[in-house]
Order: sequence, then C-alpha cells, then structure tokens
Amino acid sequence: MYNEQFRQQFHFSPKENWMNDPNGLVYYKGEYHLFYQYHPHSSVWGPMHWGHAISKNLLHWEELPIALYPDELGQIFSGSAVIDKQNTSGLRTSDQEDVMVAIYTHHGEDNEKQSIAYSNDRGRTWTKYQGNPVIENPGIKDFRDPKVFWHERSQKWIMSLACGDQIQFYRSPNLIDWTFLSTFGSEYGAHGGVWECPDLIQLEVEREQDKKWVLIVSMNPGGPNGGSAIQYFIGDFDGTTFTCDDEKDTVKWADFGRDFYAAVTWSNVSEPVWIGWMSNWQYANQVPTNPFRSVMSIPRKLKLRRQNNELKLVQNSIDLSSLYKETIRLNDNLALLPLEPKQIELKDLQVMVEAKVKENNSSSLTLTLKGEREQLQVVFDRVKQEIRVDRTKSGNVSFSEHFASMDQMLLEELKDFKLIVDTSSIELFVNQGSSVMTELFYPSEQTYTLEWAATDGEVHLSNVSIHHIESTWK
Ligand code: FRU
Repeated sequence: MYNEQFRQQFHFSPKENWMNDPNGLVYYKGEYHLFYQYHPHSSVWGPMHWGHAISKNLLHWEELPIALYPDELGQIFSGSAVIDKQNTSGLRTSDQEDVMVAIYTHHGEDNEKQSIAYSNDRGRTWTKYQGNPVIENPGIKDFRDPKVFWHERSQKWIMSLACGDQIQFYRSPNLIDWTFLSTFGSEYGAHGGVWECPDLIQLEVEREQDKKWVLIVSMNPGGPNGGSAIQYFIGDFDGTTFTCDDEKDTVKWADFGRDFYAAVTWSNVSEPVWIGWMSNWQYANQVPTNPFRSVMSIPRKLKLRRQNNELKLVQNSIDLSSLYKETIRLNDNLALLPLEPKQIELKDLQVMVEAKVKENNSSSLTLTLKGEREQLQVVFDRVKQEIRVDRTKSGNVSFSEHFASMDQMLLEELKDFKLIVDTSSIELFVNQGSSVMTELFYPSEQTYTLEWAATDGEVHLSNVSIHHIESTWK
C-alpha cells in the first residue's frame, strides 16, 4: 500500500482517486486538518466532495472518511475552515469542543454561492447549515473559494472570495450574515486566466519589526511558464479594503514551477504555513499515476523579505530532519572543475539535497537526476541570470502535449539551494526560499545518480548534504 509507481513517500496523496485543491486547513487540539477537493468514484475530476486527512506534525497523514458530500445545492467546491472560539455562530453544541465551521462554495448547475457546515466533534462529522446558502449568487459566473479569518481589530470575520477577475471582501459577526465590503484587483497583477482560491494573511518582514498584509491569488491559466499558478499582492488591509503597495502592472509569482497551485494557509496556527496542490490544470487529469491522482506539496512556512528595496514572499519547507534516515555529507569544499562532473549514486528518489555556493566562476552549474536514458536537469545559469528546470527527457512525458517543458525563472545570484525530491516531484528552494520552483516528473528507471557539473569555470560548494528521507506511510 502507498508504494505504487510514482507515489510520493513523504507528501500527502489520497489512497485512491482524484484530488485537487487543499481546503478547510485548520489546526485544532493537536491536529492539522487537511480537507481537499475529492472525487471518490474516479481518478479524473468529477462531482466534488471534501476529502479529509489529519496529521499531528504536517508530515504523517491519516486519511479519514469524506467530510462533505454534494447535495441539492450542488457540488462542494473549495473553501476554508475556522474554529469559532467565541461561538459567534451559535452552532456550538458540545461543552468539550469548540465548533469548527467550514465555509465553502456550493457549485450548482447554473451558479455558485457560499455555504457553511459545522462540526462539534473535532471535524469528524459535519452538518450543513439549514439556511444555506449564506451568500447568494449576485449574477457573477465565477464566484467561489471563500477563505475566512478572524480580524482582531474589527472583531469580525473577513471573507476573501474569487470573482472572475477580482477578489471581493465580505464581513460577518457570526459566519452566517455577510456584508459586502470591497473589491480588489481587476486593474492589478496578471489576468491571463480566472482568479481562484484567494487568501488574505499578515506576514512578518524578516529582520524588521513590521508586518504587511499579503493577498494570495491563484490564477488559471496564465502562469509564468504556462497553465495555473499563484500570484500575490503586498499591501494593507484596514478591515474593509485591501490597498496594494505595488504599481498596478507589477506581477509577483509565488512559485515559478508548473506544479504549485491553489495553496492557502492553515487557520488557528501561530506561524503562517501553507500547502499547495502539486499539479497544473493543463494536464492534471492525465498524469500517469494510479490508483490515486494528485499529491500535495510539502507544507511551507511563509514570511516576507526585503530585497533590492522590494518586498518578496519567501517560502521554506517545514523541518524534515525527523525523517532523515541517512545523510551523506560531502567534504566541506566540493570543487567542481569544468567538464569534470561529480556523480553520487542515489539509493532511491526520496532525498533532500542542500548546498551553499562559496565561489562561482562558471557560466552555469547543473544538477542532474540521471538515469541511463532519462534525466531531469536543474540549471543555474549565471550569464543569463536564470534557473531552468528541464523535464523534456525526464521519463514519461507523452501523456500531455503540455508536459515536456523547460521552465524558467530569473535569478540574480545563486547563494544556496535546497532540492526536495520525492519519487515524482521536485521542490526547489533557492537563496533561503526567495525563489521557488515546483515540478512533477515521471521517471521509469531503477537507478539514478545525482550529477553536479560546472560548465566553463570552477564552482566551490560548501555544506553539501544529501539526506535520504524515510517514508511517512508506515
Ligand atoms: C481551483 C478550483 C477552484 C474550485 C475547485 C473545483 O483549482 O478551480 O476555483 O473551487 O478548483 O474543484
């Protein structure tokens, strides 16, 4: 079980069938809840339910029974969950437990509207609110993915909602009665596709005593390398309106890889952490996995960093050290000479590779996961100042014309990187998480080496480690 071909070993995927967006991320009494868009009868997208899994540490997941089923109001699309500590909703029935409230989109045949459901037993069983929907459709076709948080200053619940090419904000005292507040976005950012899955959060600016509001917006299609991707806006939220600090045409992407979408943050936690769906709507229904289809990213901690006078979203994997089963440390100065690549045999494709760059005089440094016929390559190009992930020869790429790709992002200077490889995905965090790329690949060979190569100059690396990571399914 959980050892089928291409099954990630330390990332969450459902035992079988189709999954997309993470939903209802909330922490309560020692458990992180992960609900997700789920089709229990097929491995392609279909009538949406909320699947459910829980974890004590965001690494080991246990799948629970389905939480929400489609009904006469429609399918259960994406949304969020909160702990209503003050019982503002009046939906609490237990003296032991706070009430957990899920806010989601009912996707009917001809319209989308927002509804709620509640659980008084730590998310185990759910009742849909009798007065659903709590927000009717105002005549907007795409009107979905409510993400709700408690706004301390105004002592109100705030909802961000994706509405076509913009985000709308609503306010409520009780999660039931909602008042429209404002809209943001039709003139800001990228508009190559429909806006989805918003999240409005406050993040610390690294090394400054300051916090800023960040509005996260997924968009499909129109991503920087094609298909679906996540953009974000930095600014302020006064309880009514979000104001963006950047120019209207500024576009900031969270992850330049092809496979990180619909990510949102956990509610009721002290440190901001999010998880994304590791796929892309261009080919999500065709990826060659069986009996499950789709997997979540590694959970990532979030903050802001000031760089060249601009604020930027920074993501870093949660600590994986509890899963290291063996660490290979290379000597403190790994010198790569031109055309003399170094190879390290990998026992399996569940590894985290880390390195710092001490000196770099080569036009490029390449890191290749290499089989006999297949390879996945990451190129840090110093001349073009970019990173490229080349998966054109990475194994099975034939299931979709959109898959065999060379994806890229700008990078001024390479200082360090962490590469998380798990069976059929890579997550690359560069310069302490300020540049990130997430990509799937479907290798078919038995053995792989990790090859390090400099092209035409020397590269000196330090702190090079390769951690073999144990499976979280046992
Ligand atoms: C994003 C999305 C959401 C929607 C859900 C449907 O991937 O399209 O906007 O609620 O997936 O499954």
